[in-house]
Amino acid sequence: MKALVYTKYGSPDVLQFKEIAKPNPKANDVLVKVCACTVNRTDNATIKAIPFFARVVTGLLKPKKQTPGTEFSGIIEAVGEKVSKFNNGDRVFGFDDQGAEAHAEYLVISEDNITSIPKNITYTQAAASSEGAHYAYNFINKVPLEKGQKVLVNGATGAIGSAAVQLLNYFGVIVTAVCGTSNIELVKALGANKVIDYKKQDFTKDNELYDFVFDTVGKSSFFKCKHLLKPGGVYISSDLGFVSQNLFLPLITPLIKPLFANKKTVTPFPVNINKTLTLVKQLIEDGKFKAVIDREYPFEQIVEAYRYVEKGHKKGNVVITLD
Ligand SMILES: NC(=O)c1ccc[n+]([C@@H]2O[C@H](COP(=O)([O-])OP(=O)(O)OC[C@H]3O[C@@H](n4cnc5c(N)ncnc54)[C@H](OP(=O)(O)O)[C@@H]3O)[C@@H](O)[C@H]2O)c1
Repeated sequence: MKALVYTKYGSPDVLQFKEIAKPNPKANDVLVKVCACTVNRTDNATIKAIPFFARVVTGLLKPKKQTPGTEFSGIIEAVGEKVSKFNNGDRVFGFDDQGAEAHAEYLVISEDNITSIPKNITYTQAAASSEGAHYAYNFINKVPLEKGQKVLVNGATGAIGSAAVQLLNYFGVIVTAVCGTSNIELVKALGANKVIDYKKQDFTKDNELYDFVFDTVGKSSFFKCKHLLKPGGVYISSDLGFVSQNLFLPLITPLIKPLFANKKTVTPFPVNINKTLTLVKQLIEDGKFKAVIDREYPFEQIVEAYRYVEKGHKKGNVVITLD
C-alpha cells in the first residue's frame, strides 16, 4: 500500500511516499481502508518531536511509528477475532493521539478508538470530527461546567476552538469567542454569544468576568488572564506555555489559593477518546456539531497540507482525501 513515511524527526521535508506492507489487525483491532484523514497540529508536533519529552512515547532518537496521522474515516475491511462492535463494510471514523498511522491507504486500530459514521455526513466531514473535538471536550471535562456560566474561548477558529464553541453551546454556556476579523461571522454561526476580534482588541482587557478561560491556541498565560476570572475560576491552555509553566502551575495554584482568590489553572491531558466519539457522533446525528473544514488536499499533496497547517492559521480542519 502507499503510505507517507518519515524515518527522522523534522520539518515536513522529512516526509516521503513509500510502498509498504498492508498491516494486519490484532485480536482487538480492525483494518480500515482510509477514505479521508486530516493533517492537524498533533501530527505537525509529532513529526517534529515537540515537546521534546514526547519522544518518550514517539521514540527517543527516531520515530517508532514511521507513518504519521492520527485522525481518519474509512471502511472496515477486516476485524480481529475479539472485535465485537464492528463488522466488515462498516463506515467508521476515529482518532488516536498516540498515532493511528492514518496517512496511508490502510491502517489498523483498536475498536475502542472508532465509532460508526452518522448517515448524515460524508467521509470528509467525519474525518475532521474527532481530534479538535476530543481536546475541546477534555477542556470541558476538567471543570465543573454548569448551564448559564460564562466561558471565554481564545482561538475560537482553530480545530480545538471551533469544536469548543459548539460543545459549550450545546452545554448551555454563554460563550465569548476570540478570533480574527475575517472569522467573526463563522464563530457567531458556531454559537458564540459575544466575539472579540483579536486583531483589533486585546481580549485580556475585556471588562467581563468569566467562570473559565479556555485558551485553545495557547497564546496567553494564567497570569495575563487571571483578572478575567471570577473567584474560583479556572484557566486552561492547550499549550505548555513559554517556560512549560502550564505543567507545574496546576500543581502550585491550588496550594496558594488565597493568593489568587481561589483561581487556578489545569492541564487538559487528553483521555478517553471513546467518550468523545460517543458524544460527537450523537451531536452530529442531532445536527448540533459540524466540523469546520478549511481546505481539502488529495493524498498526493499531503506534504503541502503539513506546510499549511504548521503556519497556525487554519480555520478548523484540513482534510486529505484518498480514492
Ligand atoms: N494538548 C495537546 O495534546 C494538543 C493537541 C493538539 C494541539 N495542541 C495545541 O493546541 C493549539 C491549537 O491547536 P488547533 O489545532 O486548534 O490549532 P489551529 O487549528 O492550528 O489554530 C489555528 C487558528 O488559531 C487562530 N489564531 C492564531 N493566532 C491567534 C491569536 N493570537 N488569537 C486568536 N486566534 C488565533 C487562527 O486564526 P487567524 O488565522 O485569524 O490568526 C486559526 O484559525 C496548538 O498550539 C497546538 O500545538 C495541543
